[in-house]
Amino acid sequence: MEKLIRFGVSLPEGLLKKFDRLIKEKNYTSRSKAIADLIREELIKKQWQQDKEIAGAVVLVYNHHKRELVDKLIDIQHNFQKIIISNQHIHIDKDNCLEIIAIKGRSQQAQKLNDILKATKGIKHATLSMSSTGKGIE
Ligand code: NI
Repeated sequence: MEKLIRFGVSLPEGLLKKFDRLIKEKNYTSRSKAIADLIREELIKKQWQQDKEIAGAVVLVYNHHKRELVDKLIDIQHNFQKIIISNQHIHIDKDNCLEIIAIKGRSQQAQKLNDILKATKGIKHATLSMSSTGKGIE
C-alpha cells in the first residue's frame, strides 16, 4: 500500500461544517476518504478532458419493437469495436430494453460513441458514466 501523508488544511468554519454534514449524508466515516474521492473526481475529469485512456459505460434504454433501431445500434457498436469491451442487454419488461456498453479507450472516442447513440432515433435515454481505468488516480 502507498505511504499515507498527513497534512493540515485551513478552511472557513462554515465551509467545514457544511462539508462534514455533506459527507455524513453520503455515509463517509472519515474526511480523508471524502477528500481523496474529491481529488480523484478532479483527476478523472482531467483525464476525460485531455483525451486520455479512460474506462466507463454507456447505458441505454429503448423500445426493442423498433427493429431498425436494434440493427442500427449493432452497426454503431461494430464501428466502435476498438473501445467497446463488453455489452450487456437486459429485457426490462415486454417493451423496454436496458443496454450497458462497457468502454475502455480514448475519451474522445467514448464521447463520440455516446453522442451518436444518444442522438439515435428511438433511444429513450442514454447516459455516459465517465470513470477511470484506475491508473493515475492512486
Ligand atoms: Ni431486450
